[in-house]
Amino acid sequence: MNDALPPSPSPGSTAADKPMATSPVDAHIIAITSGKGGVGKTFVSANLAAALTRRGHRVLVLDADLGLANLDVVLNLHPKVTLHDVFTGKAKLEDAVIQAPGGFSVVLAGSGMVEYSRLTPEVRNELFNIIQTLAPRYDVVLLDTGAGISDVVLFSVSLAQEVLIVATPEPTSLTDAYAAIKVLATQQKRQQVRLVVNQAARPGDGRAITSQLQQVLDRFVTTDTGRPMRLVHVGDIPADTSVREAVMRRQLLMQQMPGCPAALAVAQLANKIESTLLKPANQ
Ligand SMILES: Nc1ncnc2c1ncn2[C@@H]1O[C@H](COP(=O)(O)OP(=O)(O)O)[C@@H](O)[C@H]1O
Ligand SMILES: [Mg+2]
Repeated sequence: MNDALPPSPSPGSTAADKPMATSPVDAHIIAITSGKGGVGKTFVSANLAAALTRRGHRVLVLDADLGLANLDVVLNLHPKVTLHDVFTGKAKLEDAVIQAPGGFSVVLAGSGMVEYSRLTPEVRNELFNIIQTLAPRYDVVLLDTGAGISDVVLFSVSLAQEVLIVATPEPTSLTDAYAAIKVLATQQKRQQVRLVVNQAARPGDGRAITSQLQQVLDRFVTTDTGRPMRLVHVGDIPADTSVREAVMRRQLLMQQMPGCPAALAVAQLANKIESTLLKPANQ
């Protein structure tokens, strides 16, 4: 598992050397992001949250895809209070935190957030404060971000200590993943990001894709330390028709079909994340 551990700080390193510039609190905040849209970020966020909850962790998922929020749809929730109400001062943050079917907490963006899909000082402050307030109450916070490299996506990613890139094996998804990873190295001074390959066609796809992408990063993307950006492969999730069925029924795959190949892969991903990034539950 050594390959999945963050690099130890070099002697004499300062806070400024650390990958995160703006992470508000020392909690395990993981941004789930992608280059291309529709690759499975929301599916991974919701089901990974359910799997980590089952393992005894206190989990919060924040719908940070402000422009195209749909975590509420996937979880079949109809929140009375959304981030929109918090942003406009109509409701208290506490009232926006609700329980999802998998036993974890969520803060939903809901519809009507389109005006917040641009990074204004207000959006910046609100997102920062919300995470700073809520993160200490949880063992892990997952940020279900938008796709791409817009400033609002990059800002929400900057609030996380760890980045999990979701990509599918399609060339378009990989090209966009590469572009996003490059920006995270140059703008956010990150030295590594993690990769999950979703909708994999064959076992071993993810490993091959990671090493291909790593080769390109080795050639073209150097971090602040002079070393290449490092990509850590955390797992593959196979293409599985059960995923679509669960989404159509608006149920969590982990609850609906816990034994199907994609659910087993998400459980494995939770294992890996737990063993590399989290403290054991209930300690
Ligand atoms: N492993 C998978 N196997 C089959 N279909 C999948 C898988 N992962 C995602 N999908 C399909 O892709 C759709 C988009 O996923 P979603 O999580 O909403 O993407 P994103 O949040 O990245 O835009 C899902 O509704 C589902 O139908
Ligand atoms: Mg999504």
